[in-house]
Amino acid sequence: MSLSIAAFDPADDTACGEAAAIMRLACLAETPDLPALSVRRYAARFRNPQLGERRLGVLARVDGFAVGTGLLILPDEQNRDAAMIELHVLPERRRRGIGRALHDHLTGIIRAEHRTTVLANTSESLPGGPVRPGAGSAFAAVLGWQRASTAHGQLLDLHDVPAERLLARIAPYVGGYSPVTWSGAVPEADVDDVAYLNARLMQDAPTGDIEWEAEKPDPSVIRNYERTYRDKGSTLFHAAMREDATGRLVAWTMIEQLDDPASWGWQQVTLVDPAHRGHRLGLAVKVHNHLQVRANAPELRHVHTWNAAENHHMIAINEALGFRPSGATIDWQIRLR
Ligand SMILES: CC(C)(COP(=O)(O)OP(=O)(O)OC[C@H]1O[C@@H](n2cnc3c(N)ncnc32)[C@H](O)[C@@H]1OP(=O)(O)O)[C@@H](O)C(=O)NCCC(=O)NCCS
Repeated sequence: MSLSIAAFDPADDTACGEAAAIMRLACLAETPDLPALSVRRYAARFRNPQLGERRLGVLARVDGFAVGTGLLILPDEQNRDAAMIELHVLPERRRRGIGRALHDHLTGIIRAEHRTTVLANTSESLPGGPVRPGAGSAFAAVLGWQRASTAHGQLLDLHDVPAERLLARIAPYVGGYSPVTWSGAVPEADVDDVAYLNARLMQDAPTGDIEWEAEKPDPSVIRNYERTYRDKGSTLFHAAMREDATGRLVAWTMIEQLDDPASWGWQQVTLVDPAHRGHRLGLAVKVHNHLQVRANAPELRHVHTWNAAENHHMIAINEALGFRPSGATIDWQIRLR
């Protein structure tokens, strides 16, 4: 077999489509309990760098046929000694050295950039959850990567959320705060508050042994995320709690509804400002968001979320909402010498 690996231009629709299609089939094999997402969505992973980072997509071909893909993410403002990689090989072409060749190709580029820490993630089963084959984890362990953090996935059927009962339960704690919900872009008047809460996430959410410098609060980061979600075809639903005394948003959550299938959504960020914890605001924002989604997007039924295994508080909130275990996402780290 003649294996070649080469970078492609994300503006090249054919090459980007080939890479996205491989990612789609590889993910479906690794997480058969999650839906097959659109090729457009996977293509956006190659096409939409976040602010202050570069992305490089490569395709592995055997006798000219695209069989594997790699994505390299290089942060250029913070975390300049780090890189992230994603590797995917078509299920029927595995165990023939293609994954290792992609890995060596990308780590070669990372070394040439004088970066020393590389991060990647894989999917595994959780007790009581659906079966996942775990090929990525077996591969990472063999190539000398270390487990850095485990995130527990949980899945919710929005029709089952006991929203009214939960709102009654938290009512005694949320005096002095008012719920706000919206869909789409963050209103200009609130974007500084949202940027602050977003930047706190890496600082506050447990992340195991991952060495990662937190983002700085910056409204343009939020606007760039919004562009990326738009390019993927997603619709965003936000809920926040406003402190009546100051008018500031002090708790915030967001659900991303997929374009295809629109019956699925990912629970993104949930954060309560440390000065306002202990008022059940985390549960409050989630319940208000679920009510908003139920009213405005009744076709969205399944919401998937991930939290670090040690984030007992958020996992307990999710269990109260009716989330049940799905699979685990393992963050891996390797130090290049
Ligand atoms: C992980 C992945 C890229 C590996 O691709 P691959 O082409 O099969 O990898 P290789 O053939 O180079 O495997 C190298 C070694 O890893 C180990 N390995 C790979 N898959 C394995 C599995 N399913 N079970 C046990 N060991 C495995 C083996 O030791 C293998 O060597 P061997 O076949 O000589 O025994 C592929 O399974 C995939 O696309 N998974 C989904 C995405 C993912 O999880 N990516 C990894 C994180 S970015």
